[in-house]
Amino acid sequence: MFNRILITGSTGFLGHHLMPVLRAAFSGAELVGVGRRAGDLREPGAAARLLRETRPDCVIHLAAKSGGILANQAQPADYFYDNLAMNTQMFHEAWRAGVRKLVAFMGGCSYPATARSPIGEDQMWSGHPQIESAGYSMAKKMLLTQSWAYRAQHGFNSIVLIPGNVYGEWDNFNLNEAHVVPALIRKTIEARERGDSSIVAIGTGRPVRDFVYAGDVAATLPWFIRNYDSSEPVNISAGGRIAVRDLFAAVCRATGFAGGIAWDSSRPDGQMERVYDVARLHALGLSCATPLEEGLRRTARWFEEARQAGTVRL
Ligand SMILES: NC(=O)c1ccc[n+]([C@@H]2O[C@H](COP(=O)([O-])OP(=O)(O)OC[C@H]3O[C@@H](n4cnc5c(N)ncnc54)[C@H](OP(=O)(O)O)[C@@H]3O)[C@@H](O)[C@H]2O)c1
Repeated sequence: MFNRILITGSTGFLGHHLMPVLRAAFSGAELVGVGRRAGDLREPGAAARLLRETRPDCVIHLAAKSGGILANQAQPADYFYDNLAMNTQMFHEAWRAGVRKLVAFMGGCSYPATARSPIGEDQMWSGHPQIESAGYSMAKKMLLTQSWAYRAQHGFNSIVLIPGNVYGEWDNFNLNEAHVVPALIRKTIEARERGDSSIVAIGTGRPVRDFVYAGDVAATLPWFIRNYDSSEPVNISAGGRIAVRDLFAAVCRATGFAGGIAWDSSRPDGQMERVYDVARLHALGLSCATPLEEGLRRTARWFEEARQAGTVRL
């Protein structure tokens, strides 16, 4: 079906989960995975050059500047510019190069701050996203407009997938950039090792979230690459519901930390409830079913091993 698949951002978190899945599913195709070293995709001409050099018929565009709420708050312009520049140029150049299909990824934070959970894809345009990460999420949201526009004018086949709050091995554990799961895993393991009686975490612990294991997200991709050809986005999440306070308890069970937690409520919570409607995903015959406790155990075990080996982002 596809002879050569280019995966931008293959050196990142989701890329590490996706590459083995693609290798198994597309054994007859050549896979070309690239990170930033192959070219800075923000730069004019970089996407065109990469496509000229690799000549793919399918592009999985993972490359992005992504990070947690603190990093987003500190650098909204960088999050906006980097993502808009990378996406706009990669999309445009993929169309010009005759690529037959492009798969792009948005974040669930692009949904309006006022979206009601469970958040279905039809709520995307009913308001402005939460302000803390609006630079990133508004830039990402333009993927939907670009997918529709290039399909309508040029017949260019692209799809936009919306993973929920993804966690798993290979995540970013740098506390200035990390999302809540890797941040809690790292803090509780380091506190356990130091013998601390508690950790400090951002926010109030009250927000409710829907976490999805990265391996489950990756496992859905072969189906989307082969079968889904619409610019209507699809949520890829577990559809579960857990308060961050309860997540802390689950993380403690995974990391063996027996201490407590102090919530720093002067720091932002983000949206109070963000749970995804996965009816569209299920109607396509797909689901993300790894239990949270199991996914947390795997991630915590990986963090400890990868830290020893020096292969984790700290
Ligand atoms: N993680 C989540 O919870 C989540 C949720 C929803 C959607 N997504 C989306 O899924 C995709 C993958 O996310 P991720 O968590 O795997 O991200 P990540 O771990 O931060 O990886 C980002 C990837 O993009 C590459 N990259 C960054 N800046 C670049 C640039 N200027 N030029 C070329 N390449 C660049 C990085 O290359 P280097 O390794 O060389 O730096 C890396 O391979 C992104 O589009 C993200 O928005 C993620």
